[in-house]
Amino acid sequence: MNRHGHNYFSVPFHLIMVDRAIPYDLFVNSSSSDVREHFVRIFPRTEVLGEEDLAVFKKKYHQLYVHESQRMDYMRSLIHVGQVPAHEKGDIIKGIAISYLDNLFNTEKEFSTDVLSNSIEGCKVAVESMVDVIKDYDISQIQNLIATLSFHDFYTYDHSINVSMYCIGLLKSVKPNASKDELVLAGLGGLLHDLGKIKITTDLINKPEKLTDNEYELIKKHPEFGKQLLEENPCEVCKDVDFTVISRVIHEHHENYNGTGYPSKIEGSNIHFLARLTAIADFFDAITTKRSYHEVLTTEDAINLMSKSAGKKLDPVLFEYFTKNVKQLVMGGKIYQELPENFDPCQPQNVLPFQTPKPSYKVEGFGAKDKSEAVGKVKPAEPKKKKVG
Ligand SMILES: [Fe+2]
Ligand SMILES: [Fe+2]
Repeated sequence: MNRHGHNYFSVPFHLIMVDRAIPYDLFVNSSSSDVREHFVRIFPRTEVLGEEDLAVFKKKYHQLYVHESQRMDYMRSLIHVGQVPAHEKGDIIKGIAISYLDNLFNTEKEFSTDVLSNSIEGCKVAVESMVDVIKDYDISQIQNLIATLSFHDFYTYDHSINVSMYCIGLLKSVKPNASKDELVLAGLGGLLHDLGKIKITTDLINKPEKLTDNEYELIKKHPEFGKQLLEENPCEVCKDVDFTVISRVIHEHHENYNGTGYPSKIEGSNIHFLARLTAIADFFDAITTKRSYHEVLTTEDAINLMSKSAGKKLDPVLFEYFTKNVKQLVMGGKIYQELPENFDPCQPQNVLPFQTPKPSYKVEGFGAKDKSEAVGKVKPAEPKKKKVG
């Protein structure tokens, strides 16, 4: 925020929509001083900005800006900007999602029902734009895209955005003809799944050492904190979001398929389908994304480790869809190891707590007794079928 209390964000020239009515005003900073900024509107929204106009601006001005209040309009327009690599669009969308997550998680910012509502609305627009970018991606392509995006020092932001993207990819693989609304709901659930962590101090969330029992008990409250936050602050602006589902994803993403999770120890299809989906995305991101303090697994090692949790922690049928959708498997060296059954993707670890399996150990198979029960309401397509439509 500048000294006048106005927020503007810079927009790269090549990500400005041309030859259409632009849905945002363009500004320049006419002040030559670094300290005092003075923003002047140089092009009004709803006018058609031509290629030549933009070329003139590029010659004349160093940088263009858009007002914060039109951030969502800017983001929505990105899909109409052609010839832009997915990672650039992804980075912009990620930056915008982070700014909304930061409104929620940054303890220096005041929290209110309005802030929550506006942030969720912003997150939803970010997810809509992300769905447009990755709708034809499999999990491996999503993973590659994630690797090219810039990282934030606050792990929770990267993690939430990654989980959101994996949720979109996984739903797409389970249900190839899922509607955009369904994909957005899955992505929004993933983006907000750890919402309750806003009630936990950043120091504790980022603590690199093993947590004490009391600290872990507090961390384990985040699904309940998140649910309470949504209940206590009904979101007025995003009427079209199904908050019953979002709330269940937040509350149930640490429930285990076999009923050993938290907070309610519910099992199987009693856990909401999207919460089971989020649990897979959450686990995968926790062990494959570089956190400053733990080593990263190759995709193959991650899938192998996770397969030992299928049917226990994870829904085995959904996990099978997940693995079928991961194309680029690179052999690593961790496949003969496993993570303890109480491994929690939420608990920070210096080093992943590998252990050598007991000789009698048998890898849990994928065979759910009843597949339709396992995936809940959404009827899965046959895994063998490639794509519909
Ligand atoms: Fe969590
Ligand atoms: Fe998480």
